[in-house]
This record gives sequence, C-alpha cells and structure tokens, in this order.
Amino acid sequence: MNLTVIGSGYVGLVSGACFSEFGFNVTCVDKDEAKIDSLNAGAIPIYEPGLDDLVARNMAAGRLKFQTELADSVADADAVFIAVGTPTRRGDGHADLSYVYAASEEIAAHLSGYTVIVTKSTVPVGTGRNVAAIIKKTNPDADFDVASNPEFLREGSAINDFMRPDRVVVGVESDAARDVMAALYRPLNIRETPILFTTLETSELIKYAANAFLAVKISYINQMADLCEAVGADVHDVAKGMGLDQRIGAKFLHPGPGYGGSCFPKDTLALVKTAEDFGRDVTIVNDVVRYNAERKASMTDRVITAAGGDVDGKTIAILGLAFKPETDDMRDSPALDILPRLVASGAQIKAYDPAAMDQAKPLLPDSITFTKNAASCLADADVAVVITEWNEFRALTPAAMKQMMRGKAIVDLRNIFDGKAMIKAGFDYINIGRAGLAAHR
Ligand code: UDX
Repeated sequence: MNLTVIGSGYVGLVSGACFSEFGFNVTCVDKDEAKIDSLNAGAIPIYEPGLDDLVARNMAAGRLKFQTELADSVADADAVFIAVGTPTRRGDGHADLSYVYAASEEIAAHLSGYTVIVTKSTVPVGTGRNVAAIIKKTNPDADFDVASNPEFLREGSAINDFMRPDRVVVGVESDAARDVMAALYRPLNIRETPILFTTLETSELIKYAANAFLAVKISYINQMADLCEAVGADVHDVAKGMGLDQRIGAKFLHPGPGYGGSCFPKDTLALVKTAEDFGRDVTIVNDVVRYNAERKASMTDRVITAAGGDVDGKTIAILGLAFKPETDDMRDSPALDILPRLVASGAQIKAYDPAAMDQAKPLLPDSITFTKNAASCLADADVAVVITEWNEFRALTPAAMKQMMRGKAIVDLRNIFDGKAMIKAGFDYINIGRAGLAAHR
C-alpha cells in the first residue's frame, strides 16, 4: 500500500517512519523546504530517540521519501494522513484548524482512485466531517472516505508507543475505509493490540477524553502533594498506596511542577471549548487548566523561599529546561514560567539542559547564562533547581553538589534526589510533597 503523510512534524514524522517500517511505501510531505532538504540529507529536525536510525533504514530501503509537493504521491495513495499542527488559536483557546482545512483542500484536487483521508492530528469533534465536506466541494468526483485515527505518542518514547500501543482507535463510516485501516495496522495483530473501530465523532472525542483524564490524574496527585506538605505526609507513598489499586493504576501519579508539552495544555483547553460550544461544562477539566497554570507559576515561590526569601543578586542553577526528559521540546515547559519570574526578581540564572538549550534560548530572557554541562551550571550557585528529570542529574551525589555549589539550597521539583541523603549532608532540600523528609535532619 502507498501512504502519504501531510506534515513532517512530530506526529507525521514518527507515524510515517513507523508505517514504512511496517513495509508500506510512505511519502512524507511538508511545505517547509529547509526541513525536507535536511530530512533528505539525513538530519532529523526533532530530538526523538531511535528516530534517526528508523528514518535512515527505511529511506535506504526505498520505502520512505520526503518531498514538498503532494500531487503525485496523493494520486498514488491508498491512504493520506493529515498530521499538520493544530495549535491553540490565539485569543480564544479553540484548536486552530486552518492547517488541517488547507491540507484537505490541497489533497482533494489530486485524489485519484479510492482513497481514505485520515486525520492523525488532534482535532475537535466534527473536524472529520468538515474535512469530508471540503474535499467533496473541491473535487465533487473524488472517490474517498474520511477516517479519524488519533495518536497517543509520548515524546521520548514515540516509536515504542507507535509499535507497541495499548490500543489503536479508528473512527470510520464505511466498510471500505475500515478495511484499509485494518490492513495498515495488521502488523500489530501479532501483539494482539486492541483496535477499536468507532464513529468519527467518538474517535475524535476519545483522544481529548484520554489526554484530559491524564492531565486530571497528574493534577490530582499534585494537589495531594500540596496536601502532603501541609499535613506532613509523603506523596510518593500516597501515590503508591493509591496506584496499587488496579482501578486507579500506578502510572501518571508522579507529582511535579505541573504538566507541560505539546498536548496536555492545548488539548485540555480545546476540550473545554468544545464542551462550551455544545452547551456543556466539563468543570473538572476547567479546574485542572486553571490549577496547572497557577501551579507552574507558583514554583517560583519555592525557589525564592529556598534562597532565604529573596533571590536578588543570588546565583541560581537551573538543571533541565525541556518539559520532560528525552526531548528538546520547550512547549509549555514550567521553565518558561519559572525563569522569567526569577530574572525579574533579580536572580542571576545559569541553566543547563542536555537537549533543549537551542530551543530554550530564544524563549528566555537574554541575561541567562547557558552552560555546557551540569557541573559548570552548579559551580558557585547559591540555589540548585531541578526542573526536568534527566537521568544524568539523578547521579549527582550530595558530596559532588557540595563541592560544586556555594550555597546549600536545592529545589527538586521532580523529586529525583535521595532527599534523606541531601538533608543529612546539610542541604536545605525543598521537594514536592515529601514533608516527612524534614524529620531526617
Ligand atoms: C502526552 C500523552 O501521554 C500522549 O498520549 C499524547 O498523545 C501526547 O501527550 P507527552 O506530552 O509527550 O505525551 O508527554 P507525557 O509523558 O504524557 O507527559 C506530559 C506532561 O505531564 C509532562 O509535563 C510531564 O512532566 C507531566 N507528567 C507526566 C507529570 O507531571 N507526572 C506524571 O506522572 C506524568
């Protein structure tokens, strides 16, 4: 089968490369000439472990191509995936669908033979039907069906998530489209991956319902962490005690500075807006959106407290900038809330991230010094702050930190350090929700 994937961003690139690994012929199309040139030269524009090998292998095998023009590949395609961006629309929080609709119009003109048009981008309920209407209007003779096939890929483990998903969700309206989609995911049968066929609207909503639920789950444990700090309990034990109940499950109960990334902030907001449009109020999700924004901003106060109530003139070492490890993605990272606030309060900031510094620099105040490793970041710092839980930071021992830093305050927003050991070594160790540790002084 021949596939065309429109949009070579995170989702398009990973999906296209993985489908080519399944053995299909995949053409990835993107308007960005520089991006296509660099992909053809073997350079991957995003940081995703394993993606470079996967792309190189399938390009060499002749199954994966990159180009700026969509005409010929759409004409030959059995399925065309729309994987363009759906950012939050400026001003109103709705998902911006202009790229999806523009792509639909372009595809329509070049369709030839029966083709399934699949939305892979995260799109609000009703979008699939609008895509169908646009294609029909642009090319009344086109022989096509639309399908919805949301992605559930986590940055940093996207290839594994594609190859070994918990489930595949597909919204279709005809047997012909169902057959094409079933054939595309047949390679997953060997793992007995559940494939849920449903309607367009249901499939579109599943994506938002799932992401918003995870955002709720994270916010719930973050609020429990707040409560643990007040009552002297340990949130890790609370999470463990909750998570062992199989109805709850242990995953996504790690407390932190608040969720970020390319999906949760945008998708929670878009779900709230969709509900509003249909006269419903998803109050829980509404609350989570507000709480998470406040939480990220409030992390600055922990740093100020650790610095003795005032950061003016103090040197603060920031370990980690990306919204999570194994990615260079800065979108909605808590670092973007915390760092400008600290700079505005007079702090001298040194920052280090193993992958995200190039992405971070244009988004952060000019006065920040970016260092080439964790050691030079920590050198002579009054306060160390962990924002992203990169593995290389976990190895920092109290003795090493003592030697490098001038001060003795550590703000561990991901709870990666052995808190007892840090406290024993004389550090003022501020964490998330582990109030009981103070007893180890
Ligand atoms: C997410 C979804 O997991 C994925 O299914 C979806 O399709 C895209 O969005 P991603 O944004 O890559 O993936 O990262 P994820 O690992 O889900 O983390 C999202 C945010 O939640 C990060 O800021 C992370 O730090 C935070 N998080 C996650 C927590 O604070 N605690 C947790 O227990 C888990």
